[in-house]
Amino acid sequence: MVKVAVCGAAGGIGQPLSLLLKLNPLVSELSLYDIANSAGVAADLSHISTPAIVKGYAPASRDDLEALGSALTGCEVVIIPAGVPRKPGMTRDDLFKINAGIVRSLVAGVAKHCPRAVVCIISNPVNATVPIAAEELKKHGVFDPKKLFGVTTLDSVRAETFLAELIGAKDPEVLRGEVAIVGGHSGDTIVPLLSKSSKHASQIAKLPQETLKKYIHRVQFGGDEVVQAKNGAGSATLSMAHAGYRFAELIIQAKSGKSVTRSRSFTDAAYVYLPGIEGGKQVSQTYGVDYFALPVRLARDGSAESVDASVLKGVTSQERELLKIAAAGVGKSVVQGTNFVVGAK
Ligand code: NAD
Ligand code: LMR
Repeated sequence: MVKVAVCGAAGGIGQPLSLLLKLNPLVSELSLYDIANSAGVAADLSHISTPAIVKGYAPASRDDLEALGSALTGCEVVIIPAGVPRKPGMTRDDLFKINAGIVRSLVAGVAKHCPRAVVCIISNPVNATVPIAAEELKKHGVFDPKKLFGVTTLDSVRAETFLAELIGAKDPEVLRGEVAIVGGHSGDTIVPLLSKSSKHASQIAKLPQETLKKYIHRVQFGGDEVVQAKNGAGSATLSMAHAGYRFAELIIQAKSGKSVTRSRSFTDAAYVYLPGIEGGKQVSQTYGVDYFALPVRLARDGSAESVDASVLKGVTSQERELLKIAAAGVGKSVVQGTNFVVGAK
């Protein structure tokens, strides 16, 4: 049984994500932290007849850190979807100004109150907020690279859904894990490696080049489709709650010793600090970046045991170009995020 915190629990992602977590019988306690309406969301979810005890926490004032401390104490998994979402015309980088400080302050709370927790960052721009989290944890002397994930699962979910449409697969679930998504989580830093698909390789090979090009673009810019359709009311929330839960569920299962088969194999990719995880150092050296999304193998404590660097080997020349572009984009965000905490050099 695992105690989980959601920071930003009353938001568009936070509410459905908390609902999915409440439905998981392996969750013993759910700490819902938000600056607004966490009590209402907690009261609502607490009526669901599943084991998880739900408690809401909100700061009494801007300077109140006590509520965050109470929410995080004893948590083994902390999921952070707090912060502002995009509006049409904005990039994820435009969110940095507001979300950088939010993520930093929440992660400072993690460092103080549950330093051994596995932390999953959803708040954008993920390519920069994860380095912010890492630097903040380092500042407190509690950074464990194996326990910090930037959640990029929505890219995998989209890649599977859009590919199912193209090859006529009625149930996209059969494509789960079929498209390795690497790089980062924004535009051209998202790289779907179709050449790595094994089970559906022959169907993919039949698709015209132009269709494949459009597919890659759609996976990279799928977030824009939702931002435009919501027309000012935010970005992906429901699909993100599903994706965030899909990743968190693996961590919860691993921690509970359940479904070892899936949790021991390489799962969806996540954006991680490469030099600190087995298999990551080589990728870091080759691409000149310290962070990259790669398929992750989870250990029994829900931490990253290793990353699957083999997906980067034997890629097509076109994919190699995409990887270079992704690495350049990720590199800039890492500098921005790192400098936010350690100060510009
Ligand atoms: P939202 O505005 O609906 O919800 C955000 C919540 O965060 C709000 O309830 C707000 O009160 C809360 N919040 C703000 N500051 C806080 C703080 N200091 N402490 C605790 N809570 C705080 O936004 P959303 O649609 O849920 O999106 C949240 C974030 O997730 C955005 O940055 C968005 O870009 C990002 N996102 C990431 C992915 C991904 O794939 N990683 C996908 C979709 C959205
Ligand atoms: C997404 O991919 O849907 C999220 O990162 C939200 C966004 O801003 O597009």
